[in-house]
Amino acid sequence: KLQTDTHFLVALPVALVAAAGGFFLSQYLNKRSSKKGQVNTFISKDSPKVVHCFDMEDIGSKAVYCRCWKSKKFPLCDGSHTAHNEQTGDNVGPLIIKKKDP
Ligand code: FES
Repeated sequence: KLQTDTHFLVALPVALVAAAGGFFLSQYLNKRSSKKGQVNTFISKDSPKVVHCFDMEDIGSKAVYCRCWKSKKFPLCDGSHTAHNEQTGDNVGPLIIKKKDP
């Protein structure tokens, strides 16, 4: 019985140190891979800045641009803002550029 207690007294601190080490390592790796506060999570992450340019003449009568950074068709809106708003309580939506109604 004394030997079992001794094993427990040695194993418990080792397990606690290993668990704490794993926790802090995961926190460190999370901070490195995704900086806090980034809006863009997946669009052209290898680029230093995401910029798109369109000529007014090519837009046509209506264009709908994403402002939530969740669209799979970025920079165009694909409706992904709806799921984002439902999941987060956010209220983001697209930028719509259109010709005036005659
Ligand atoms: Fe981003 Fe619609 S998908 S604003």
